[in-house]
Amino acid sequence: MPKITVQNLHNRQVEVAPGQTLLKALQADGIDWMHACGGKGRCTTCSIIVQGGLEHFGALTAPEERYRANGRLKSNERLTCQCTLETGDAVGKVPRQTMLPHMKYS
Ligand code: FES
Repeated sequence: MPKITVQNLHNRQVEVAPGQTLLKALQADGIDWMHACGGKGRCTTCSIIVQGGLEHFGALTAPEERYRANGRLKSNERLTCQCTLETGDAVGKVPRQTMLPHMKYS
């Protein structure tokens, strides 16, 4: 199963099941991750900065396309509530602005 490594969460590795969103996989592994709209693709607070393996993600979803087009989602960012990992592993980090106060980042 493909894995996401979260660099600034002490390089925590989380397996992402086929068709599972990154957010669901992270939550299933006990990681608290900002998701202000509840995973509905209506904000960008769940984004991840992708540092490696961007090509292993599934295609952009419609909400991601919309945020990409209006400049709110950079080319190296994905929305964890929308994206899947399909063809291999990836590495990313939590953006500074959406770090949660009770989480210990590295
Ligand atoms: S939680 Fe709002 S877009 Fe992902």
